[in-house]
Amino acid sequence: MTQAAQISENSTSSSPSALEELSGILKPDMLEVNKLIMARMESSVPLIPQLAGYLIASGGKRIRPLLTLAATRLFDAQTPRPYALAAAVEFIHTATLLHDDVVDESDLRRGKASANNIFGNQSAVLVGDFLFSRAFELMVEDGSLEVLRILSHASAVITEGEVLQLSIQNKLDTTLDQYLQVIGAKTAALFAAACEIGPVIAGQSPDMQKALRDYGYNLGMAFQIADDILDYSADQETLGKTVGDDFREGKMTLPVICALQHGGLPAQNFFARTFSERNIRDGDFYIAQEILRNNNILTECSNMAVTYAERALEALLPIKSSIMLSTMKKLADYSISRKL
Ligand code: IPE
Ligand code: IPE
Ligand code: MG
Ligand code: MG
Repeated sequence: MTQAAQISENSTSSSPSALEELSGILKPDMLEVNKLIMARMESSVPLIPQLAGYLIASGGKRIRPLLTLAATRLFDAQTPRPYALAAAVEFIHTATLLHDDVVDESDLRRGKASANNIFGNQSAVLVGDFLFSRAFELMVEDGSLEVLRILSHASAVITEGEVLQLSIQNKLDTTLDQYLQVIGAKTAALFAAACEIGPVIAGQSPDMQKALRDYGYNLGMAFQIADDILDYSADQETLGKTVGDDFREGKMTLPVICALQHGGLPAQNFFARTFSERNIRDGDFYIAQEILRNNNILTECSNMAVTYAERALEALLPIKSSIMLSTMKKLADYSISRKL
């Protein structure tokens, strides 16, 4: 079966979702990770656990720590080492969300008012810094310089991605390559690192490290393209985030880049007014959705997400078969067909 056929077959047979399947297999491990997350967000300064706990208790899919656990157990390594490192990965992610919602002025996260909305920007930024730092403490306690190298590099790259994204905001001449660079940095880098540390913990070869890194990177790319599609098409209640945020902020995401390329003069004029001139009127988000619909833009974007999901599957080809491997393969489809 071709990779594409495998992906489309998975998309019709994904109940429960691959993420639920992975959570099921890794339930005992994830319990340990969650205990560490709760223990290590503690501080004698009450606002820290109050704010961090608010966001952490709101849920979240925990896909990144699950990837770290899966990428370790894939090699039959029965060590407790991935617990602290998976917690560190989730702390890095949580810190980026706290900062991202301040930068994006987002009011909703995980179906609840965002932390910046409740506690204010200053507290959200500072508690984000705390969680970043706690992640580094956890990594140092693990003691592997290689893991520290991988995750510290990813943390720097995430911020580079967020800053690059900020610097191209509202710029209609943004290229596809620039967009791919942004999402590669802000999202795929942490997916890649979360996966790559699995074979490092399990004492595997550099080839296995590369396979898992490539899998995570491509999965992350597909995941973020899906996220950018959902920002124009999701049901807000299900998504738990405000639909249309990217449009209102002038984010140069894939749907807009494709619409400018293939939507002709009407699309170009519309985004020149709304993005370049920042002249947004009531009903404009609806017009944007209509432009995307009329030009089949979201299908074009989905096709690009599928390409990355296929690359994620290809990266796993050198890995020997197991239940864990097949669940990780199904995650490729999940990352593009997810609704939240
Ligand atoms: C949100 O990540 C940020 C993106 C990279 C799109 P998730 O969709 O994994 O967020 P939670 O943790 O499940 O809330
Ligand atoms: C997610 O980016 C933040 C990071 C990956 C650092 P977005 O701004 O696109 O994601 P949401 O929609 O707020 O989750
Ligand atoms: Mg955001
Ligand atoms: Mg953002």
